[in-house]
Amino acid sequence: MSSPSNASPSAFGPIRSICCIGAGYVGGPTMAVIADRCPGIKVTVVDLNASRIAAWNDPDLSRLPVYEPGLDAVVARCRGRNLSFSTEVSAAIAAADMVFLSVNTPTKLKGVGAGQASDLRWIEASAREVAACAQGHTIVVEKSTLPVRTAETVQAILAAAQRNPSDQSAAAPCTFSVLSNPEFLAEGTAVADLEHPDRVLIGGDDPAAIEALASVYGHWVPAERILRTNLWSSELSKLTANAFLAQRISSINAIGALCEATGADVHEVAHAIGTDSRIGPKFLKAGPGFGGSCFQKDILNLVYLCGHYGLQEVAAYWQAVVELNGWQQHRLARLVVQRLFGTVTGKRIAVFGFAFKADTNDTREAPAIRICQDLLEEGAQLAIYDPKVSSAQMTDDLGQPPQAQGEGVWRAAETPEEAVRQADAVVILTEWASFASLDWSMLVPQMRHPAWLFDTRSVADLAAARAAGLQVWRVGMG
Ligand code: UDX
Ligand code: ADP
Repeated sequence: MSSPSNASPSAFGPIRSICCIGAGYVGGPTMAVIADRCPGIKVTVVDLNASRIAAWNDPDLSRLPVYEPGLDAVVARCRGRNLSFSTEVSAAIAAADMVFLSVNTPTKLKGVGAGQASDLRWIEASAREVAACAQGHTIVVEKSTLPVRTAETVQAILAAAQRNPSDQSAAAPCTFSVLSNPEFLAEGTAVADLEHPDRVLIGGDDPAAIEALASVYGHWVPAERILRTNLWSSELSKLTANAFLAQRISSINAIGALCEATGADVHEVAHAIGTDSRIGPKFLKAGPGFGGSCFQKDILNLVYLCGHYGLQEVAAYWQAVVELNGWQQHRLARLVVQRLFGTVTGKRIAVFGFAFKADTNDTREAPAIRICQDLLEEGAQLAIYDPKVSSAQMTDDLGQPPQAQGEGVWRAAETPEEAVRQADAVVILTEWASFASLDWSMLVPQMRHPAWLFDTRSVADLAAARAAGLQVWRVGMG
């Protein structure tokens, strides 16, 4: 297929106007930081979801739809200056020199590739909107995590709408260049990751478009950290980075289970291996398994891709990383039941943390969902406390509304104190910093005894919990 970029102008002026389609966890923070660092560029973030846009425009910055440390300050600096949030998708595309596609790409639930491939309907719809509304030359940047060769789809849609300057038709020229610019920000540290990235990756085959995007990042990212590759390498690098990170987590969780069985301590093992400079210390924290919108989806994408190219052994290798993650979550739920004398029916259990990691209100693929569902299936009464996750979100995730009494029911607690009342156990599922300084001497007397602490994140002060009368279990500790 000939790339639309072949027909595009080889050079164009500096980028003055950016539109981002999708005001989610990626689009919102990324555009806020671009606007902050590039005051000369007008940045408009658009979304079909009017309530999400209204939340981004809320004068009360504590009500932004995405919670990220430091994001409120960045938005406060730029909103109304060169950053705006709008539902006027067509107008923003028409005015833009560069359009970022930052829409959701969840795993397909049905049809070909169900359970593995990404559902690209939102990418296709947004590419069609760009094709219909863009004017002049527009650089289209894939920001969402996508299967390899998605750029081909985007290019094909845009190519059909392209009107070259040499066309005899009356309509104004309209040309496109497609780039891949995957996001490597991690939730909870999004602003810091965007402000000081390890690298920015730009994939494409139009050198002028690549340089135009590089010059946007060049406002604050050192030149040697801006990497240029072909389109497919860029798309595959994103999947590979996430697959490698997730694989480290499944590896340490596998070793953690062995530590529990043998009397070793996974934290000591992680420290010992992490001091080997070839291995390094990061992403070796045993826990309840990885969550978040990216890891599982990206690995499943990789698995699907390998299957498509007949690489069954490679597919099975990566599939095992996801399977071990699910196993870890079910294992922890089973372990809680076993320690509570083999039954949790009608027993109160306080769950501390529901977000997939600390410092975010995001619960997508959170280990808490599967672990709570298993405990509910066993008949437990859960009181869930999370400083940032709403009860409405928990209802969505658990598939049932809160209920105060009965078996297999849950309710949200406003405070840890409220959650532990008459509980037989506390299960820590997210590593919120506040859980490190819980006052166990005040909490434990409220519980029913014998009472347990299950710390799947290794954050609690175990000595204090023991001193207050709890029996304690910590992940990966024999
Ligand atoms: C990830 C990638 O890190 C980021 O580069 C990519 O752009 C998006 O996906 P994110 O999912 O936001 O970011 O968070 P991350 O910090 O990677 O954590 C993912 C999950 O792994 C969380 O559930 C976290 O608790 C878990 N984790 C992480 C561990 O269990 N142990 C670790 O050592 C590290
Ligand atoms: P991510 O974590 O990748 O940012 P989110 O689901 O948080 O994903 O955000 C994606 C956003 O994209 C959603 O708010 C959704 O409403 C928006 N979106 C999806 N398709 C379109 C579209 N065609 N036009 C505008 N916005 C869209």
